[in-house]
Amino acid sequence: MLILGIETSCDETAAAVVRDGREILSNVVVSQIDIFAEYGGVIPEVAARSHLEAMMPVVDKALSDAGVSWEEIDAIAVTYAPGLLGSLLIGTLTARTLAILHNKPLYAVHHLKSHIYANWLETGASEMVSLGARPSGPSPRAAGANTRAAALRTPFEKPSLDAPDFPLLALVVSGGHTQILYMPEHDKFEIIGTTEDDAVGECFDKVAKILGLPYPGGPSITKAALSGDANKYRLPHPKVEGLDFSFSGLKTAVLRAVQKEVGVPISYPSHKLKELLAPEQVADFAASFQKTAVDILREKMELALEGHPEVKSVVVAGGVSANQELRKAFPDAFFPDVKLSGDNGAMVAAACYYEILSGVKPVDPYSLNIYPRISIEG
Ligand code: KG4
Ligand code: ZN
Repeated sequence: MLILGIETSCDETAAAVVRDGREILSNVVVSQIDIFAEYGGVIPEVAARSHLEAMMPVVDKALSDAGVSWEEIDAIAVTYAPGLLGSLLIGTLTARTLAILHNKPLYAVHHLKSHIYANWLETGASEMVSLGARPSGPSPRAAGANTRAAALRTPFEKPSLDAPDFPLLALVVSGGHTQILYMPEHDKFEIIGTTEDDAVGECFDKVAKILGLPYPGGPSITKAALSGDANKYRLPHPKVEGLDFSFSGLKTAVLRAVQKEVGVPISYPSHKLKELLAPEQVADFAASFQKTAVDILREKMELALEGHPEVKSVVVAGGVSANQELRKAFPDAFFPDVKLSGDNGAMVAAACYYEILSGVKPVDPYSLNIYPRISIEG
């Protein structure tokens, strides 16, 4: 079965053709990161307009890269929730029009489900294209004393077979979400832990801003942390009961630690702190913050596994799953290929394939709506 997956929930315009939920025939991602690096974050109206410009060339390229015609496509899958309203609208309206025009069944896929199903994809052709100017980021310094995070010990070994086994626990870590999900089988999700405030990716982005590192914060903190000492600054773990998370306190803890380090009062504007920080201090803060964030995620997953000894696999998903320290901390878990950690169309097609196998029916292309905030549990 050949599925065309379309994804526009945030600032990537993406389309892909995937065979049977696993084999990537094409995967085209046009990123707006270069545009938003200049602004320091995503501007929804600008994102929607960029999607509009890129959408059809991206779909055309996905089909031509895959070497398939419209006749060969069996279904169209599109992200309908959650995400930025204007961004979701461009993707869904495109998918609805194409489904009507080419008489194809249309499936509406939840974004977090797609991230999780990136773990079922084989690594294949991926093309990242950027829009806009080049970001003016700091140049990386030599690799230094970054301490490794302790590893998550799972009660099982990752099976040699390259697909996760059920029941499983999924850790979803993205710019908008931080959740632990229990999956008893394909396409069944129970949220057993969630953030009470910021998502971990959002925390990376906000801490990067305090340190004067470019958007998106995840990759730039990782880069800066390479030459930093992860044990230089002791940052507190939030006191949140059970499997829930809180990341806004960690961001504030970094802010206070930076203010203390450079000797200014807490009323000092955070956007001016970067002028007072030496590159070594930035690297040490980046490494210390990254280690703390990874430790928090690992500790919560250890707790989740204690409560669910029956699980056979752990999968990690979402933009933050590209993080190498996180990967080291979860040696027995499934991670998507780094190219598939961020938003892409292949994961939408993969999730759709397993929805179809699970009996999910197509939606009406004349009336599909978008839901910027709906949960994966529906
Ligand atoms: O899944 P994603 O591409 O978009 C959403 O669905 O939100 O996730 C984007 C988030 C951003 O906050 C970005 O800073 C973070 O993923 N991210 C990372 C890394 N690469 C991207 N965070 C930590 N380490 C990375 N290497
Ligand atoms: Zn995402």
